[in-house]
Amino acid sequence: MTIEYENTKKDLLASPKIWMITGVAGFIGSNLLETLLKLDQSVVGLDNLSTEDGRNLDEVRSLVTESQWQRFRFIKGDICNLDDCRLACAGVDYVLHQAALGSVPRSIVDPILTNANNISGFLNMLVAARDAKVKRFVYAASSSTYGDHPGLPKVEQTIGRPLSPYAVTKFVNELYADVFTRTYGFKATGLRYFNVFGPRQNPTGAYAAVVPKWFASMLHGEPVYINGDGETSRDFCYVDNAVQANILAACAKNEEALGEVYNVAYGEITTLNQLFYLIRDQLADKAAAIRLQEPVYRDFRAGDVRYSLADISKAHRLIGYKPQYSVRTGMEKAAAWYIASLA
Ligand SMILES: NC(=O)c1ccc[n+]([C@@H]2O[C@H](COP(=O)([O-])OP(=O)(O)OC[C@H]3O[C@@H](n4cnc5c(N)ncnc54)[C@H](O)[C@@H]3O)[C@@H](O)[C@H]2O)c1
Repeated sequence: MTIEYENTKKDLLASPKIWMITGVAGFIGSNLLETLLKLDQSVVGLDNLSTEDGRNLDEVRSLVTESQWQRFRFIKGDICNLDDCRLACAGVDYVLHQAALGSVPRSIVDPILTNANNISGFLNMLVAARDAKVKRFVYAASSSTYGDHPGLPKVEQTIGRPLSPYAVTKFVNELYADVFTRTYGFKATGLRYFNVFGPRQNPTGAYAAVVPKWFASMLHGEPVYINGDGETSRDFCYVDNAVQANILAACAKNEEALGEVYNVAYGEITTLNQLFYLIRDQLADKAAAIRLQEPVYRDFRAGDVRYSLADISKAHRLIGYKPQYSVRTGMEKAAAWYIASLA
């Protein structure tokens, strides 16, 4: 249990705030929504439903009470449209900006589209939030910003060159956030997520992330492909840990915590080979074929970072972040969700 997080949640229950989540229909956005509504907060959500169809919102509705759901207002709108951003930010205390086009491969196929959503859209949100005088602005940054720097574990101040257009956009977000701090005194806090996974992460489509894709492949009796030799590693982070980081960053009271960038991960390295067996173990009692399944190796993928592991001490020190779910306990919860949704 993290005392900081438990106290923050108690404070929020005692004194509810108005939150705005962009990308609310997505994976992380809908998990933020679920937690905040369960804490009796008021939430405005903005999403253009470009990569999600609204089913995550339907699921959140089924998990909260009717009166909690009544505290949610959905705006179908686009962060590329400044008026939509201004509408969504009006009267809001805290913004959690999640909307973006994810996926390294997508950005390599269409860098212009990724740039428009992730950089112009981000800038619109900064301007709208600044003008609306929101108290806190927390945004989804990315571990891809570490690029080709070989050092492990990754510490916030040491980054390399970006390896994909997506990584460029996430780094530019940090540059804009920094300039807004120094130019306008508007402090935006960046959370560099490291491979977040959990319920409601979309397993379908060409740009699905590795964890949902592998759950779906195994449950559907399809091959699981590993790009490269399987020794590529990641610091997989269960989504509730990322939710905790957002809430702590938004509610941080110490001035020195604001306008910073933080690694958000569990702080443990998992290779893709290990991930394969971790997921297979979770599904082993579903079918004999899964118990015997082995991965299929193919070429490395362009733009992928080889090894990744976060140093999470800065987030612990400044915002009290203490991840509650390990990779294994998170994977158990994710498995339960994928089995219920896909099997
Ligand atoms: N999931 C991860 O492992 C991970 C890792 C690093 C960074 N991130 C970042 O975290 C954020 C959330 O990621 P996610 O996994 O929940 O993604 P997601 O694709 O599940 O959700 C993103 C949501 O944003 C919406 N959206 C996209 N463009 C929009 C626009 N122009 N206007 C309004 N809404 C728009 C989509 O419809 C979708 O619902 C993103 O910024 C992503 O880059 C995620």
